[in-house]
Amino acid sequence: MKLELCCPTLFGLEGIVADELRFEGKLDTVRAENGRVFFSGDERTLAWANLNLRCAERVLVHLGSFPAASFDMLFEGVRALPWEDFIPVDGAFPVKGHSLNSALHSIPDCQRIIKKAAVQRLAQAYGAAWFEETGARYQIQFAIMNDRAELYLDTSGAGLHKRGYRANANLAPLRETLAAAMVKLARWRGRDAFLDPFCGSGTIPIEAALIAMRRAPGLLRTFDAEKWTCFDAGIWKDVREEAVARILPDTAFEINGSDIDPENVRLSVDNARKAGVLQTVRFDQADATRITYAGREGVLLANPPYGERLLDLQSAERLYGAFGRASAGTALRQYIISSDPAFERFYGRKADKRRKLYNGMIKCDLYMYFKPDGAKKQPQEPGAKK
Ligand SMILES: C[S@@+](CC[C@H](N)C(=O)[O-])C[C@H]1O[C@@H](n2cnc3c(N)ncnc32)[C@H](O)[C@@H]1O
Repeated sequence: MKLELCCPTLFGLEGIVADELRFEGKLDTVRAENGRVFFSGDERTLAWANLNLRCAERVLVHLGSFPAASFDMLFEGVRALPWEDFIPVDGAFPVKGHSLNSALHSIPDCQRIIKKAAVQRLAQAYGAAWFEETGARYQIQFAIMNDRAELYLDTSGAGLHKRGYRANANLAPLRETLAAAMVKLARWRGRDAFLDPFCGSGTIPIEAALIAMRRAPGLLRTFDAEKWTCFDAGIWKDVREEAVARILPDTAFEINGSDIDPENVRLSVDNARKAGVLQTVRFDQADATRITYAGREGVLLANPPYGERLLDLQSAERLYGAFGRASAGTALRQYIISSDPAFERFYGRKADKRRKLYNGMIKCDLYMYFKPDGAKKQPQEPGAKK
């Protein structure tokens, strides 16, 4: 079946997801927009994307797009879509979505109209008046923007950041899709050392290990569309087997995570075990401001406390300063995500490059230091005038 597919992404990650599809999925129909990436393919493409994409939030089938300035237009547009090609007579088809800058702004009303239109279409197709909805889930998603509706079916179920290894999380975990994107932005592929000295629940080192081992991020979980009767279940089996066959057996990567809190170190070990990468990553308890960074090479990628959730801003800035002094002069390429606009001043060095990223709703920058660290300034003391 030929399918128009769409992956929503965190803002700032559209290009990275497009590259995953182009270079790893070998697709040539990829188009990135604000917060989403469109591509086309078939059931195999859809299964591959769910299992292998590291930085996308979901995989949706794009069913149609039409003007929807009134409930009548919305109803007729939805009723015209071929729901029966996907949803069987016992399928459950809940509706969710959002609306922006549009006359139709009441989400419950839009949900009700869309449901009614889909029911009417299916009633006609199956000659049924009532749907029990006891079978697999076919989540309908809508987005109405500037009076135009887009209708989708969600093939993923739980968001793709839910890899299945992080049942436990500390207070401020980084979304797995963002952690994987940062490893890609650091261009780390397993050839040199990797270090996260603020590892929390271990997300960054675990995602780095999954990338180094070429282990597909979705291998531990299932996806809604695996149960869809419109697709051949054999395809999912094949795609899973191909993903397993690609895993590198080699565990000789130098990946380290550490955290000051021993409970977080235990959590990271637990999560790495669940992720199947415990042989590949080593976790220790350590104060990041007391680690010796001099003489080390490779990549340091970290998500220190922001001062919004874990510590107040002043303690976070004091920590950036102490961390900056400890890592001064290192040959490690450093990639640090922070929502503090004054991060560079406290860390003591202007980044070679910055990249805007969103950690959930928090606007952050990834501060990248990859040039040799000859002319490093002394970090500013906390409390000093900004
Ligand atoms: C924002 S969290 C990291 C979250 C992590 N990326 C994850 O996905 O779970 C920051 C972490 O820094 C740790 N931390 C705070 N001060 C530290 C220090 N001086 N040395 C090492 N770790 C520290 C905290 O215990 C916390 O786990």
